[in-house]
Amino acid sequence: MPDVPIEAKVALTGGADFWHSQAVEAIGLPQVMLTDGPHGVRKAAAHADGLSGIGQAVPATCFPPAVGLSATWDRDLVRQVGVALGEESVALGVGVLLGPGVNLKRSPLCGRNFEYFSEDPFITGELAAALVTGIQSEGVGASVKHFAANNQETDRMRRDSQIDQRTLRELYLRAFQKVVTEARPWTVMCSYNQVNGTHAAENHFLLTEVLRDEWGHDGLVVSDWGATHDRVAALKAGLDLEMPANPAHQAAVLKALANGDIDQATVEQAYGRVEKVLRRAADRLAASTGKFDAAAHHALARRAAAQAVVLLANDGVLPLAAGAKLAVVGEFARTPRYQGAGSSRVNPTRLDNALDAIRALAGQDAPFAAGFTTDPASPAGPDAHDQAVAIAEQAEVVLVFLGLGENQESEGYDRDTMDLPAEQLALLEDILAVNRNVVVIVSNGSSVLLPFASRVRAVVEGWLLGQAGGPALADVLFGLVNPSGKLTETIPKRAQDVPSYPHFPGDRSGVRYGEGLFVGYRGYDARQLEVAYPFGHGLSYTSFDYSDLAVAPTATGLRVELTVTNTGARAGREVVQVYVGLPASKVVRAPRELKGFASLTLEPGGSARTVIEIANQDLAHWSVLDQGWAVEGGDYLVEVGASSRDLRLSTTVTLAGDEPPRPLTLQSTLSEALAVPAFANLWEQMAGPALGGPVDAEVARMMADAPLSALVAFSGQPADQLQAAIDRINANLANGAKDCPRV
Ligand code: BGC
Repeated sequence: MPDVPIEAKVALTGGADFWHSQAVEAIGLPQVMLTDGPHGVRKAAAHADGLSGIGQAVPATCFPPAVGLSATWDRDLVRQVGVALGEESVALGVGVLLGPGVNLKRSPLCGRNFEYFSEDPFITGELAAALVTGIQSEGVGASVKHFAANNQETDRMRRDSQIDQRTLRELYLRAFQKVVTEARPWTVMCSYNQVNGTHAAENHFLLTEVLRDEWGHDGLVVSDWGATHDRVAALKAGLDLEMPANPAHQAAVLKALANGDIDQATVEQAYGRVEKVLRRAADRLAASTGKFDAAAHHALARRAAAQAVVLLANDGVLPLAAGAKLAVVGEFARTPRYQGAGSSRVNPTRLDNALDAIRALAGQDAPFAAGFTTDPASPAGPDAHDQAVAIAEQAEVVLVFLGLGENQESEGYDRDTMDLPAEQLALLEDILAVNRNVVVIVSNGSSVLLPFASRVRAVVEGWLLGQAGGPALADVLFGLVNPSGKLTETIPKRAQDVPSYPHFPGDRSGVRYGEGLFVGYRGYDARQLEVAYPFGHGLSYTSFDYSDLAVAPTATGLRVELTVTNTGARAGREVVQVYVGLPASKVVRAPRELKGFASLTLEPGGSARTVIEIANQDLAHWSVLDQGWAVEGGDYLVEVGASSRDLRLSTTVTLAGDEPPRPLTLQSTLSEALAVPAFANLWEQMAGPALGGPVDAEVARMMADAPLSALVAFSGQPADQLQAAIDRINANLANGAKDCPRV
């Protein structure tokens, strides 16, 4: 190996420009391009760089952003999208694709939710792992971001996310953990924000203790663009590559090396990790043909989009009857809202709208009126509104396309309301006054309130569906595709019902994740709140029956089996969801948590058995007392259904658990100690002398929650005798006695 000067090593731990790493001449490593983003390759055009380059990328397929992809609940489809993203990266000369984003949707108001998968870490982790596997199968790297707890855009570069340990581990780190341990991403991108008082880029706990030491991440850690404040501290914390270039930070590292503030080994280590990853990417790119199959990728984008559509409500008006006289209203039918704004904005190879596809499938030139503009800053005039009402009045069925404008949700800022724009709601009211046969199709990157749902005949959640979303929506409206998408985020009745509502987005002192473990459906279920549409919900044009549930513990977790039958008249896909709860848990828990899912495609009358394996790690909770993951022993409630509130089958299964024994101490409470038979046996004899007199039932009840040390203190007796008894019990238990304390 030729010698690489230390200056070149330091240089490789920082970028060359906005999108490239440094070259290392001595070892023939060229510059490597890293670029966004999660649902398409946004390669800045040659003349565009930095922030000004947003929107000026070379053409690439715009697949459905994560908000759409996640609603498919389809690992294999998501993996295929990943493969296509990998192919396009190679073709366009991109060595690392900056995505997926796996932050949780803690609040529907987060402006960047369109780039994230869900309010639930399990499905987020499963689908993101599939995407990463797909991307990396093509020989380029993915970058899982934004690590960690970056769940809002407000003040995103400074705000301190203040989260308790269990919530951090079980919700906000969990999807990262799954992706890192199961899909081995080449890179992880740290976030801008602070986590419990330290910026992510300088957070040793996150970047080294958790990511590398616990999860075994062996790729590199890259900064979010401009997230590094102190590169010497960042290197020490475990950040390997600072992006974009920052010459002042390079100089600071060289100075720190010279005066001993950082040791060379730390720099060498970061250099080694960067070199290893970029070498792989560079070798792959050297063999690139520069081509990808744009038509095939467009077709894949359309298939993914159609599978992402969620039919929220339908009284039978959908699928549309052949020959029905239609009117199409809403600018979004003509000008699709198909991706989010900010760094992930792809320049699509092609963009198809719903209006043309509807007209083609309907075989008629259905009248169209925009009704409103997608830019609320310049409202449409009364004529646009009146024209829409006029065509609606003449139609048998009115398709009304509503949604959020591009400037209403974006990277960089949050929404301040869950409402659709007032202008659109007013238009819908006026249409309903002249025609009740209305189907509403919404386009949005995260849930919006749908107060009109019970007064229209169907509601179709169209998310942001990428460049082929328009025809995909038409396919569903006409029944060419049977809808099978399901919600990965709850649609509440009121913004105030969202569990994080009072705590979001915090203030200059930080954002306290005060709802703790009760994010999304976990919170609505714990408070038994009614919601508009629950997590996991999504209708079909056919119907499914669930039967013969069998659940059994296995060496690696739980095995869930059931039969699903298509009882309707159309072929269709059903997403089966498995939720697990532990009603008598000793720790705070949500009533149920998603722990498995599978999808089945069945012909009418068709039936199939599906097996869903649940891993122990997914059943585990973070034990604060033991500082580790543990599966609690107990009777688990396993519920299987078509949504988190449409649970068709359930059963209870007993798990032994794997919690470490926790010895008795003087800090154990009386009731905890009495639960240990050996202690209970001794209690009668011991209580008198140790506590200065016999303890009657009433006092014992009152003192049940008091630590033994307090009982001793009240008695005025020395603790020695009790301590000796505890030591004896603990020693017997350690020697194999059966009744291990779990206190
Ligand atoms: C975003 C990242 C993105 C990076 C590069 C940042 O502002 O937060 O998600 O990958 O810019 O565009």
